[in-house]
Amino acid sequence: MNIEDCLADFRIPQYLHYMDSAATSLIPEPVIASMNEYDLQYRANVGRGMHRLTRVATQRYQDAHDIVSSFIGGDEGITVFTRNTTEAINTVAAGLDWQPGDRLVTTVMEHHSNLLPWLRLRQKGVEIVILQPGPEGIFDTEVFNEAVTADTKLVAISHVSNVLGTVQPVREIAGICKERGAYFLVDGAQSVPHFPVNIQDMGCDFLCFSGHKMLGPTGTGVLWMRDAVLSPLMVGGGTVDDVVIEGVITENADTEDAITEGYTLTEGYKRYEAGTPHISGAIGLAQAVKYLENLGMDAVFRHEQKLASRLLAELVGIDNVTVYGPQDIKNRIGVVSFTIDRIHPHEIAYLLDERAAVLVRSGDHCCIPLMKYMGLENGTVRASLYLYNTLEEIDLLIETIEEIARIV
Ligand SMILES: Cc1ncc(COP(=O)(O)O)c(C=O)c1O
Repeated sequence: MNIEDCLADFRIPQYLHYMDSAATSLIPEPVIASMNEYDLQYRANVGRGMHRLTRVATQRYQDAHDIVSSFIGGDEGITVFTRNTTEAINTVAAGLDWQPGDRLVTTVMEHHSNLLPWLRLRQKGVEIVILQPGPEGIFDTEVFNEAVTADTKLVAISHVSNVLGTVQPVREIAGICKERGAYFLVDGAQSVPHFPVNIQDMGCDFLCFSGHKMLGPTGTGVLWMRDAVLSPLMVGGGTVDDVVIEGVITENADTEDAITEGYTLTEGYKRYEAGTPHISGAIGLAQAVKYLENLGMDAVFRHEQKLASRLLAELVGIDNVTVYGPQDIKNRIGVVSFTIDRIHPHEIAYLLDERAAVLVRSGDHCCIPLMKYMGLENGTVRASLYLYNTLEEIDLLIETIEEIARIV
């Protein structure tokens, strides 16, 4: 399927120009159809029981894990479904065995979801080191080389900034982590939806991303982990092989673990997915992955590069407009942040909607430390593009920004 041919699958009213995909993407019709099919035709719980509907639903639910795993080259690890990136990162923060004096390295560029869970670890005596990027929002790996010491337990960084769209050198950082024995977590919320991401190439230990930013339903996210090193965030139905309660121990109670712990956790993703999961969401996410694979992630990336190149090239020439991050399209994706002198970013976003039905995000983008670091008290306006955006829409955005910038 060609990118141009897929526009009809997105049923948002045609007069709207959606450029807020870094927050959440639009969803194509086949993804909705796959979820409806589950709800209407084979709705049942998963991993529980033997009747025909539960068997079909269980199979599709497991298949969804396999489809997502192979999309990121993660077949050898464990692919856990979560509600979003935030839950995935919190699962890692809560699940590692932190000791006072452990060190964690992260950066000032992180989304709050990849910062607050780590800051909270200070209560456990963990030392949090926060690195600063180079002037264009890209890290020199030397900064990590110096900061990642032998007592560093984890390094956590976004693959792509949700404000500047800059792509970080994760493969090189992974090498440093491996050498020093630190775990490496990549927040892939803004990378996995937009270009091919392969865990084998990247060499991370944890990859977190959101289904709803990659054509999937809201309430879906992924935590991939290399090994089952985490204690689960929640336990309960679906996560155990055996449960033993003192006084009702049967002769058949098999493992010592079961007797001392009270329960024996099961293996694989089920260990981390307590309770009835978002079954239709998982099925929809798998369909979204198939949709992206059908288009080809290289093609998705090229399309966005074409749009972002035009946007960047035109924006930098408009009086009163400041564009943030590198002006060169290399090492960045279709996330473009800008401001217009003397107009509040929220007002710009409002005017873009009012005048041209162009929908963009404004404010701090859940990155207050980065905004402070950049000296942008009111934040920025952010246009974030995806496969369903067109060059005509980019031209409309540019024309409308020109109009607004002339007001001041
Ligand atoms: C880089 C990054 N990390 C984490 C998140 C949080 O994602 P979610 O709200 O799906 O948990 C976002 C959302 O915008 C993001 O851009």
